Amino acid sequence: MEDQLELNPNSLNGLTESSALPHSLKEVDDDDDAPVLSSHALAALKEFLSEQQSHHSAAAEGETATAVEESKVSLVSEDWRLSQFWYSADTAKTVAEEVLKLCNGSVNSPVACIACPTLYAYLKNMDPNVPAQLLEYDKRFEQYGSDYTFYDYNHPEELPPELKHSFKIVVADPPYLSKECLEKVAETISVLIQPGESFLLLLTGEVQKERASEILGLHPCGFRPQHSSKLGNEFRLFTNYDPGTRLGGWER
Ligand SMILES: C[S@@+](CC[C@H](N)C(=O)[O-])C[C@H]1O[C@@H](n2cnc3c(N)ncnc32)[C@H](O)[C@@H]1O
Repeated sequence: MEDQLELNPNSLNGLTESSALPHSLKEVDDDDDAPVLSSHALAALKEFLSEQQSHHSAAAEGETATAVEESKVSLVSEDWRLSQFWYSADTAKTVAEEVLKLCNGSVNSPVACIACPTLYAYLKNMDPNVPAQLLEYDKRFEQYGSDYTFYDYNHPEELPPELKHSFKIVVADPPYLSKECLEKVAETISVLIQPGESFLLLLTGEVQKERASEILGLHPCGFRPQHSSKLGNEFRLFTNYDPGTRLGGWER
């Protein structure tokens, strides 16, 4: 019968000689002359295992940090029947940072998040004072209290009167990549947006590029939104303003 050669770095602590090798480091055959590692080989093995151990510890620390950071923003699980694909943490943070920059700390810059609950969650996480409203079909987001408004893009103008023409910044991520859906969301945007200077950000598939320009006068940024699940469609971020060097620049 043959035992497994077990390479557990913890079992090497304090060992310098082959004779002190635990059973787990011996390649044991049935005979009594089982080979053991020489002191030279043992030293090399210890060095290798110690490096492995420090790589694993670093990786484990990284995982813990990510988990801690992400645990601050809690999201409901994706429901693919509702075309729900949440942004990756990096994408949500990048877009939230851009929106906060546009707000410039002003309570006079309310933000409407149309069908982008992850963005709403990150915005509130990064600045709890930012005035933001989530318009969403999924009623699980009623958990956000008065910041939540039920919204169905099929009824684009069915909105509470107090929300009309009251947002300086509107971010939208329509559930479908169709012309009809974009046109209806555009109607909603026109009802929500304030007169005067306003900022519009649209996250949607690359395939909507021409329509985003025709219907809303938007142009794509270099930044490529990513999702926590891999999607087949490439996504883009379109804006009605020049972000300068932010968001990977503006393509016109
Ligand atoms: C492509 S996802 C965008 C989510 C975004 N990536 C995020 O992470 O927040 C589309 C969103 O549209 C919502 N939705 C689904 N059906 C809808 C409808 N009939 N009217 C409005 N929104 C709808 C989904 O619940 C989902 O949040």
